[in-house]
Amino acid sequence: MNNLPTPDMRLRRLRRTAGIRRMLTSPMPGPEKFIWPVFVVEGTGIRQPIEAMPGQFRYSVDTLLEAVEEVRDMGISGLMIFGVVGDNHKSEDASYASQPESIVPVAVKAIKAKFPDLVIFTDICVCEYTSHGHCGILSNGEVVNDPSLELLAKMSVCHAEAGADGVAPSAMMDGQVAAIRYALDDIGLQDTILMSYSTKFASAMYGPFREAAGSAPSSGDRSGYQADYRNPSAALRESELDETEGADIQMVKPALFYLDIIAEIKRQSSLPLASYNVSGEYSMLIASAERGWGDLKSLVRESVFALNRAGTDIFISYWANQYNKFLKD
Ligand code: PBG
Ligand code: ZN
Repeated sequence: MNNLPTPDMRLRRLRRTAGIRRMLTSPMPGPEKFIWPVFVVEGTGIRQPIEAMPGQFRYSVDTLLEAVEEVRDMGISGLMIFGVVGDNHKSEDASYASQPESIVPVAVKAIKAKFPDLVIFTDICVCEYTSHGHCGILSNGEVVNDPSLELLAKMSVCHAEAGADGVAPSAMMDGQVAAIRYALDDIGLQDTILMSYSTKFASAMYGPFREAAGSAPSSGDRSGYQADYRNPSAALRESELDETEGADIQMVKPALFYLDIIAEIKRQSSLPLASYNVSGEYSMLIASAERGWGDLKSLVRESVFALNRAGTDIFISYWANQYNKFLKD
């Protein structure tokens, strides 16, 4: 049949049986690679569904502890905590964000007391605490960088003192990593990990989160501080700069639309790299499955593995609290 000097290439030989395929494929990332983002509110007995994110809830500390026990038993490594507060705790200067009795440090203490081995990160940004919903101090309609750094540093110290293993600044202010590192080191908190949202894009995929956290800006948008997806070299510089400022872990956010950026940062740096599979990405797959346009388990597995292939070391993902269901073949 084939008179060429080389024999037929038959790639299907190595895909013929399940046994052969299994020998050649890599395992799915285990639950230990996952960090679960959670929303914590004031009060007790609250477990309020987030409409745009089926399977996710706003928890008060008591109900959060029950949910955390479940993810701990699944083998998930840790949490990323977001505080959601009422208007009574929002102000121009977000002062509530660094109060030791505010909801995030209280939650951190309660979780660490019960589950000391879980790795607890807190989100460091003030948009949940400002009356205008921007990620820093607003002056003449603009978010001013350097005065905002002080807030982020104070908030970080407050969460680290409560026992957080790491802080994760997401405000995209210039110099935030260095400012936080200096503030932590100054008071002897050298061991607090700094996971920077180093390349965070101004994205349309944060919609469900903003509903969940009540953190949408009341005017304007975040393109004055978050990275522009049409300017990839500037986006890469954001991560480079955070590495020089002393970040321990870098992050790309969102994740699925930015596999090229994940792969590039993985090449340019030897720091561990997290990807944040954000709310809109989560809801998109669920919506597709609910309409019968895709099988949720297959969609989740394929997307998680894509992030793994691109170079993700740590998955910050809302799938974390259901990952055992998706992991089994
Ligand atoms: C706040 C913050 C946002 C997210 C994490 N931290 C939203 C934003 O920048 O508006 C998004 C997370 C998600 O969509 O899951 N700085
Ligand atoms: Zn913010």
